[in-house]
Amino acid sequence: MNNNIVVTDSRTGKHYDVPGDIIFPDSLTIIDSRTGKEYAVPVHNGTINAMDLRQIKLSEDDFGLMTYDPAFMNTASCKSAITFIDGDKGILRYRGYPIEQLAEKSNFLEVAYLILNGELPSKVQYNDWEYSITHHTMLHESTKKLMEGFNHDAHPMGMLASTVGALSTFYPDSHNIHDAESRKLQTYRLIGKMPTIAAYCYRHRLGLPYIYPDLELSYTGNFLSMMFKMTEMHYKIDPVLEHALDVLFILHADHEQNCSANVMRSIGSSNADPFVSMAGAAAALYGPLHGGANEEVLMMLREIGTKDRVPDFIKRVKEGEQKLMGFGHRIYKNYDPRAKFIKETADQVFEVTGRSRLLDIAIELERIALQDEYFIKRKLYPNVDFYSGIIYQAMGFPTDAFTVLFAIARTAGWIAQWQEMLVDKEQKIARPRQVYIGAEKRDFVPMEKR
Ligand code: SDX
Repeated sequence: MNNNIVVTDSRTGKHYDVPGDIIFPDSLTIIDSRTGKEYAVPVHNGTINAMDLRQIKLSEDDFGLMTYDPAFMNTASCKSAITFIDGDKGILRYRGYPIEQLAEKSNFLEVAYLILNGELPSKVQYNDWEYSITHHTMLHESTKKLMEGFNHDAHPMGMLASTVGALSTFYPDSHNIHDAESRKLQTYRLIGKMPTIAAYCYRHRLGLPYIYPDLELSYTGNFLSMMFKMTEMHYKIDPVLEHALDVLFILHADHEQNCSANVMRSIGSSNADPFVSMAGAAAALYGPLHGGANEEVLMMLREIGTKDRVPDFIKRVKEGEQKLMGFGHRIYKNYDPRAKFIKETADQVFEVTGRSRLLDIAIELERIALQDEYFIKRKLYPNVDFYSGIIYQAMGFPTDAFTVLFAIARTAGWIAQWQEMLVDKEQKIARPRQVYIGAEKRDFVPMEKR
């Protein structure tokens, strides 16, 4: 079998039969057994370009081959320089910096700057960034009226997604998506206002007055104040909890092409503004298989109730009755590096808040699961959601607010992914193909004849 390919010189229309490895040093040679034809398909970055398969046809009027990949299990939708994950080695880096170093040495606003701009900020850049975000924490007073329309027991993620989408109507300038200065202003607004929206959702649920942002406080300190301040003049922020929340936000800031990032890119690819795009991303994060898992983990731990009931629960999981929420990951087939760090952060929080009995159940669940063939065979390890909920609960956040906390942090990643898509010359409006398996052509049957 020779490795020759037919190359057509578009300038002359002439065809040349040349060895494939001259033109494409890295390539696949595909032999179509239906026609006996051979095709050399270039390999770039460990991928083949799906459009290169369209040349593989049965006849001239044949559409050509497509790939079929439900849930994109093995499809790269973009090139990205934001986050690198090695699922087998349990590696996570933002713009090349290991998550462990960022969680230990940085803070969320600095990491948000890094994720969005590609480099760690200088002192001047950081001060300007912090000032800009801090001065975009207020919400338009009409937003509060909008939020007051929700039932008192409305789920905060439903409120958050709706309110973020509604911000699109307050900032029509956000439609200038190809203007870098406009994108920067919307970035300040989104990162600045997400904690305010989150806190207002919580206060609405409790029938408490909204607490306005305090520009003197840190990003997480201001959020804690807007959440928990009562009649005191200034909310007393515990520095351990303020720092723990900052670390948790760092660990949740981005995670390459996860479900909600894919939604942000997909909606944004139609040139929709970043507010409605992020409303869609927040909706995706709300799902219990994605960001909603941290809430599900708490409900699971409460359902188990005590350590001695863990073996029975594991048995039901293995019988397929239910999932071990907070376990498993599409990419990580090893310990999620974030889960490790979150577990360490838990110890610091519990020194302040007192140890949660749910932690003992979680540790017992992990201990048993990590030894059990069912989980080992499926490479199921704790993911970012397994321990985060226990910390949030100990810090006083209600269970259904956990995903809202995830959304505050992931705002930086969603915007970075959206922005990278917009400036990527290879991207256009996302519109997947399908394999049609429906009815063949048939004629309409009048009602009386059905
Ligand atoms: C996040 O993508 C991201 O990066 C997401 C995220 C981010 O930062 O954006 O990391 C955040 O969403 C973390 C994941 C949170 N979700 C959960 O904890 C929910 C529980 N986990 C699963 O539902 C599941 O593990 C997923 C959704 C996370 C991953 O699912 P996959 O990759 O589609 O794997 P799968 O469902 O095909 O499972 C493979 C096998 C199946 O068993 P078999 O059919 O082969 O017998 O593993 C089993 C599954 O039944 N399995 C589980 C399980 N997760 C998978 N069995 C029990 N408990 C689980 N949690």
